[in-house]
Amino acid sequence: MLSANDIKQKVGEQAAQLIKPGMTAGIGTGSTAYWLLMALGKKVQEGLAIRCVPTSRETARLAAAQHIPLVELNDTAAIDITIDGADEIDPQGQLIKGGGGALLQEKMVAAASRQLVIIADHTKLVQQLGAFPLPVEVIPFGWKQVQRRIREIYHVDSNLRLKDNQPLITDHGHYILDCHFGQIPDAFTLNITLNTMPGVVDNGLFIRMATSTIIGYPDGTIRQSAIVSE
Ligand code: A5P
Repeated sequence: MLSANDIKQKVGEQAAQLIKPGMTAGIGTGSTAYWLLMALGKKVQEGLAIRCVPTSRETARLAAAQHIPLVELNDTAAIDITIDGADEIDPQGQLIKGGGGALLQEKMVAAASRQLVIIADHTKLVQQLGAFPLPVEVIPFGWKQVQRRIREIYHVDSNLRLKDNQPLITDHGHYILDCHFGQIPDAFTLNITLNTMPGVVDNGLFIRMATSTIIGYPDGTIRQSAIVSE
């Protein structure tokens, strides 16, 4: 049986095969995307000519260390493919992301991409989203108003994400509220409602964005599936 890290390595390496010469590729953030970066770094050193749009400062740092050419989102008209991890994946391919705090940049890069391929181990598959606390990125000014509003509307508690006992500051200067929904029966509507609250920058629901998944299992199996949108 493979360890969780071995599974992530396998799916990361398999996903790297999808990035072909000449492509502009969005590169995700997190422990699964790490293995994608390592595999890509090797291919670039062997001559693969690509340009990558990172989804976080950490990914940009890791990519630069691997000598992977980077390009700014502003400087690319379209991204051929983005490959990223997820915290939860439901049967419709709806996602919760942002466990690593990079949800805003991840969503912007995904939205500019022709394809969004999600790489994960089987533990990320769920019947319904919501057990993983939903990250909501908020403006630091007045963030408690957003927390109150979420409590009033949904009767859901949230925690301000901390790092070293201080509010975690995202790459774009915001805070994150981790919201304990438990169950999210209508992720489509929740995504819109949250994003229309003043003070909310974005949230970790990725709806109708993923185009396929690559899921790894402890016995070494890897399943690649297309997501068919309704
Ligand atoms: C980063 O903000 C997240 O969206 C990650 O993509 C997600 O948390 C998955 O990370 P792992 O691959 O480390 O589980």
